Amino acid sequence: MNYKKQIIPKIKGLLHGADYNPEQWLDRPDILAKDIELMKQTRCNVMSVGIFSWSTLEPVEGEFQFEWLDKVLDNLANHGISVFLATPSGARPAWLSERYPDVLRVNSARVRQLHGERHNHCYSSPNYREKVTIINTKLAERYSQHPAVIGWHVSNEYGGDCHCHYCQAEFREWLKNKYGSLERLNQLWWSTFWSHTYTRWEQIESPSPIGENSIHALKLDWKRFCTDRAANFCAHEIAPLKSINPDLPTTANLMEYFYDYNYWELAKSIDVVSWDSYPLWHRDSDEVALACYTGMYHDLMRTLKNQPFLLMESTPSQTNWQPITKLKKDGVHLLSSLQAVAHGSDSVQYFQWRKSRGSVEKFHGAVIDHVGHANTRTGREVTAVGEYLQQINAVAGSGTPAEVAIIFDWENRWAIDDASGPRNEGMHYEQTVCDHYRGFWQQGISCDIIEQLCDFTPYKVIVAPMLYLLKPNVAERLETFVAQGGTLVATYWSGIVDHNDLCFLGGFPGGEGSPLRRTLGIWAEEIDSLYDHERVRFDVDTNAGLGFGGEFKAKHLMEHIHLETAQALAYYREDLFDGCPVITKNHLGQGCAYYIAARTGTEFNTLFYSALADLHGLHKPMAHVPDGVSVTTREDQQSRYLFIMNFMNEPRDVTVPPGTWVNENTGDAVEENMMIQPYQVIVISSQK
Ligand code: GLA
Ligand code: ZN
Repeated sequence: MNYKKQIIPKIKGLLHGADYNPEQWLDRPDILAKDIELMKQTRCNVMSVGIFSWSTLEPVEGEFQFEWLDKVLDNLANHGISVFLATPSGARPAWLSERYPDVLRVNSARVRQLHGERHNHCYSSPNYREKVTIINTKLAERYSQHPAVIGWHVSNEYGGDCHCHYCQAEFREWLKNKYGSLERLNQLWWSTFWSHTYTRWEQIESPSPIGENSIHALKLDWKRFCTDRAANFCAHEIAPLKSINPDLPTTANLMEYFYDYNYWELAKSIDVVSWDSYPLWHRDSDEVALACYTGMYHDLMRTLKNQPFLLMESTPSQTNWQPITKLKKDGVHLLSSLQAVAHGSDSVQYFQWRKSRGSVEKFHGAVIDHVGHANTRTGREVTAVGEYLQQINAVAGSGTPAEVAIIFDWENRWAIDDASGPRNEGMHYEQTVCDHYRGFWQQGISCDIIEQLCDFTPYKVIVAPMLYLLKPNVAERLETFVAQGGTLVATYWSGIVDHNDLCFLGGFPGGEGSPLRRTLGIWAEEIDSLYDHERVRFDVDTNAGLGFGGEFKAKHLMEHIHLETAQALAYYREDLFDGCPVITKNHLGQGCAYYIAARTGTEFNTLFYSALADLHGLHKPMAHVPDGVSVTTREDQQSRYLFIMNFMNEPRDVTVPPGTWVNENTGDAVEENMMIQPYQVIVISSQK
């Protein structure tokens, strides 16, 4: 763990700000002047500028207008407001699409899109790449030493795929590099199935609604290729920026539970991870589940680079694109914003600073509404966040110690979803990972969210829900992890296919003689899937050593397993597998491995992970975390910070851990017992 990492070299404290689009208001100098005043009033110290400014920066091909941006940046610098300067590739001028139609994406049905919208350029188009290099070079030459500019906001929310002839050709090159020969590709793609054998590279096409979808390995490779394309395009954008000023950090804003690209790969192209978080507060009765789901994603963003991240976007009030755009109840804005900081963010930033007058986002929440001032409920809530961040400024750069890692793996996720069976009505991989994570989250135990290629050695416990696709050497590394004293929790539907999406032979998980099967000490013979309404009873044996027992229910998926060297801790008590083991434990070397053969619910997970924490001596920041409260830890060499957050609309009593704690917000000493109000967040600190 990094104990102190200043991710933006020019900045010491926490950042607070928004996406700022002055280009929409160039004919209103009064409004631009007022913006600065309002930024000061709302305690904003950073703006992301230029994200969609290309047509203002280069209204005609090769004719650039920077004077307006000079003024904006100078003005911000003069008032002590920093800037993430964007490269404008997220949306392009009409002249560019008109003159170079190959910049327009071709969809999977092979239809070229018309000009308009955004985030829809072809990553392979030589023309787009050239135009991006030109504008990025000009921006870097002019602004990369500007006193306001603290980093690059590269493009906006990379996403999607393109099926044009350039991209098809790149895909074939990528496959040639990967497989070397068609013979090998045919073999590993299992293409004799349905006579799909390829005899020329040119026959290979990206997946489409009208063919090429029956080869699972092709679909998986396409997704890997699309990740590489996006990462390659991102690196292409960054090259001129770095060649002019290598010290200015880059970030790209990622998205929540994003499906298209493996973020572990994309994150390699940038210096700092940032992301756009839009939880749908007040939608469900279980607000706590949403808080947990969001917390897990913040943890992933922190783990991607094992350093603080930035909350690049969130809404100060409501969005305009969610099915129902609810306002946040009083206090929830501060709570939601500080939750990001609690999990490792060094900023709270919004989309957007000022509401536009026209077009698709004119009703999206903004710090400054059409009324034009900040004496509004939202204005006050935003100001309260700014003030709070100033009070907890010392948190910036601190780390998050984690003894637990949960594997959430993109390639595994894609392969599970494409698998055709065993449960086509929903395998719910993301939710399942989160359901396991929740067992720790509700105890205040920090987790890193890793992929299967990450280093396992820093952790005491690794949880690998549904590790269906097993990459080379991962089973060996898990075996070593356990043998050397680690605790592994694996579940049903693990070790089913290799990284080529070919099923293992000789017995799951992992195949005959697999280190994974050895580590878990079981053989999984078959899996049954259940309808949504079905539940199957299993009993945990009170004497099995978990410290709890009783009757529980399995849902969605359940496996029929056999003990090899493991011992059973729980048995199915009805239905097809009545009497067979469902939870097992296997000792190996200095450590042990649990197997959970069926999908369990919150009730079981809560008890199981609480027992696991006790049995394996995990550090808990607080002896008891009340229901609906989340506690996270950040720390540096000198101090430990506890974020105590109440996601319930009711007060809760908490007992702070022994020691001398100070309320970071008020500066007051903290009593041992305190009440935390509905939707309240309290940050306390103690010296180490
Ligand atoms: C995304 C985009 C922003 C804006 C917001 C609206 O996160 O990056 O430009 O459209 O959504 O919520
Ligand atoms: Zn393309």
